[in-house]
Amino acid sequence: MAKITTAVLQKMKQQGEKISMLTAYDASFAKLFAEQGVEILLIGDSLGMVLQGHSDTLPVTIADIAYHTRAVRAGASDAFIIADMPFMSYGTLEQTLQSVVPLMQAGANMVKLEGGDFLLPTIQALTERGVPVCGHLGLTPQSVHVFGGYKVQGKTAEKADAMVRQALALQEAGAQLLVLECIPTALAERITQALAIPVIGIGAGNVTDGQVLVMHDLLGISSGYIPKFSKNYLAQTGEIRSAIASYVSEVKAGTFPGQEHSFN
Ligand code: KIV
Repeated sequence: MAKITTAVLQKMKQQGEKISMLTAYDASFAKLFAEQGVEILLIGDSLGMVLQGHSDTLPVTIADIAYHTRAVRAGASDAFIIADMPFMSYGTLEQTLQSVVPLMQAGANMVKLEGGDFLLPTIQALTERGVPVCGHLGLTPQSVHVFGGYKVQGKTAEKADAMVRQALALQEAGAQLLVLECIPTALAERITQALAIPVIGIGAGNVTDGQVLVMHDLLGISSGYIPKFSKNYLAQTGEIRSAIASYVSEVKAGTFPGQEHSFN
């Protein structure tokens, strides 16, 4: 597989080649995922739930993400790695600039931030200083208490229009990738078509330029609630390497996610 860069991801969108992305938190899984052709590894703040056992992502710190980013980089030296910026690590511009240093020095190629308009100056400042940014709209888990639970977002015409506008504004500010989480498929399609940058979906239908899943969901080892948008590939294949290969091939073919994993 060619070394993945922002330019390669951009070209994949232009050529209609779907992008596969997975969360990874350690060297062994990172190596295995890279070997199976997963293009992007995300050190998600989901680690607060799937590794640390919390009920949400809010307790995760920059030190946690930096630790796991170093481990993932050690296992996958050529991988394209995105590090999540955890809750309140980008509250102010000064704080943001301090927060990104340990993540980029741990081996991240890009950082991901959750939110819309309030992030525009931050995204511009990061990009100007050499830090590529991935936006994240829709069900942004750091705002779970504002949403009143893990709920599908962008369901009314007004909220959908606002999300399209915000996605364009993030791109305009310099974001080079966008994650859309738990939104209706029709809205994900509108945003994917409106944007020049690649759009990665989770619970956003098979219409985006790529897909991401939390690795524990894909392997069916998450404790408690299993989201509608995830699929247990290990149950289907019985072996971890085959499970990952199957995920990558279904993403590439556009057969995952199906209707049963998507929202109207
Ligand atoms: O934290 C995470 O793993 C994420 C993905 C679910 C997109 O943000």
